This record gives sequence, structure tokens and C-alpha cells, in this order.
Amino acid sequence: MTALAPETWRRLLRRPSGDAALSSLYSPLCAPSTAADGCYVLGRIAQSLDGRIATASGASQWITGHEDIVHTHRLRALFDAVVIGAGTVRADDPQLTTREVEGPSPVRVVFDTDRRLDARYRVFREGPETLLLCALDAPGEDRVGNAPVLRMPRAGKGLAIAAVLAALAARGLRRVLVEGGGITVSRFLAAGALDRLHVTIAPLLIGSGIPAFTLAEATTLTDVLRFDWSVHRLGADLLVDIPLARARPGLPA
Ligand SMILES: NC(=O)c1ccc[n+]([C@@H]2O[C@H](COP(=O)([O-])OP(=O)(O)OC[C@H]3O[C@@H](n4cnc5c(N)ncnc54)[C@H](OP(=O)(O)O)[C@@H]3O)[C@@H](O)[C@H]2O)c1
Repeated sequence: MTALAPETWRRLLRRPSGDAALSSLYSPLCAPSTAADGCYVLGRIAQSLDGRIATASGASQWITGHEDIVHTHRLRALFDAVVIGAGTVRADDPQLTTREVEGPSPVRVVFDTDRRLDARYRVFREGPETLLLCALDAPGEDRVGNAPVLRMPRAGKGLAIAAVLAALAARGLRRVLVEGGGITVSRFLAAGALDRLHVTIAPLLIGSGIPAFTLAEATTLTDVLRFDWSVHRLGADLLVDIPLARARPGLPA
């Protein structure tokens, strides 16, 4: 990965000159990968103060404000691929494009381990390239709508993340944004596959609903993942920027 040209920064940030605070947020994302797989992987979650990403019925639009939505679109413009889980496709029918900023839209990568999604969703019918990833033994054809299907080994309840990253890298997709939902981001985290994590916290309490993170139960507080973070104000919301360097819960960083 190379540093972004000044003109690219200006277009993405929509400002006449660089902004120091925003540069400190985005420039680490342009650092070269230090992982053996050659990928740089960013996890991304927008949550309520009580750690929910949607109501129990799956409503998540919108938890955070407009500045955070623009931030998400900037991230999409900076990454080669955006990963989402089947639960998010079903709940939101998202497009995952860069409508709020100038910049290319990433390749959409849908995790649907057991092929529960059909071709009715927009990612499979319109817009940028989409890949559907499922288990080796999942049923179905090798295409869903416009999207080719890539089959991956299973690991636990999902797909083997290391095999997924190797397959994406082989296609030239080395900058990978994992945009949700909670289960998908948590599976990358549990696999020690995140270089960085951006969590935006909105000033609201949902009180119940879909959790941001679902990880193995920790017995003691020495088992948990601890980290440094830096905090950025995005309108009414707080964005915490966490360098994870592929750390995973239960193991020292
Ligand atoms: N606030 C945010 O940042 C944000 C971002 C993205 C999404 N969301 C919201 O998060 C929710 C989804 O997140 P999530 O953690 O539940 O899931 P997810 O990470 O989007 O997707 C993974 C889950 O989807 C399940 N799944 C697969 N196919 C499905 C189908 N056809 N119908 C229903 N579920 C299916 C998978 O089940 P198996 O393991 O059995 O295959 C897996 O548990 C949605 O309500 C979405 O609106 C919020």
C-alpha cells in the first residue's frame, strides 16, 4: 500500500487543504500490511452506548449521525473490498457504495456460510462487483444473480478467515473493510484477523437488540482483550480508533 496523493485526500475529505485530525485518523489505514497474508483488515461497527448495532427486529438505520455515514463511505473508498454478513444483507439490502464521497466503490464480499440468501438483494443484482462466499459443502449453484460464488473451508460456525483473506489477496483485494454485522466482525476478531477497529458510539441507549461483539466467554479479566485507543468526535458521536495488530481475545497481543 502506498500513501494517498494530496489530491485524493482533498477529494475524500472535501476540504481545500488537509485536516490534521482527519489525517491522523485515515493515514494509518494506508500503512503497508505487516501480516504474512499481505492484507490490511479494518473492522467497523456503529453502536449505541449499550453496545447494540440494531434493535431486536434488525432496525439499524440510523444509529449514528451523518458525519459517521460519510466516514463509512470514505473508508469504502480507501479499501479494495467490503465484507458483510448475510444477516446484514437480509436486514438492510445495502448497496455498499461511495455515494457520499468521491472515490471508487469497493468489491462487495458477502459471507453466507450456508447459502440462505437468494438473488433478490441489490448486491446481487446491481452496482459494483460482488462475490458470495459460502462453505465448501453449502448447497446451490456457483452464481447468485450477478455474483460468482467462492467456496471456503468452514471454521467453527463460520468460514475459515485465513482462507478467505488468502482468496481475496489472490484476487488483488488486500485492503479489506469488515463492515458488519456484529457476528461477522466478531468472527474476524476471534480469528485474530483485524489490524484495526473503528467503533463509533452514538449517544443513545437501545436497551436490547443485536450486540456489536459476541466472543467466547472470558473466565477472568486477564483473558480479555485490552488495547489503547484514540477518540475522534464525529458530530454528536464518538469514533474510537483501535490499533489491534491482529490481536485476539484470550491471547497476549
Ligand atoms: N450498526 C452497524 O454498524 C451495523 C452494521 C452492519 C449491520 N448492522 C445490523 O446488524 C444486523 C445483522 O448483524 P448480525 O450480527 O446479526 O449478522 P451479520 O454479521 O450481518 O451476518 C452473519 C449472520 O447472518 C446469519 N445469516 C446468514 N444467512 C441468513 C439469512 N438468510 N437470514 C438471517 N440470518 C442469516 C448467519 O447465520 P449462520 O451463522 O447460521 O450462517 C450469521 O449468524 C442487521 O440488523 C443490520 O441492520 C448494523
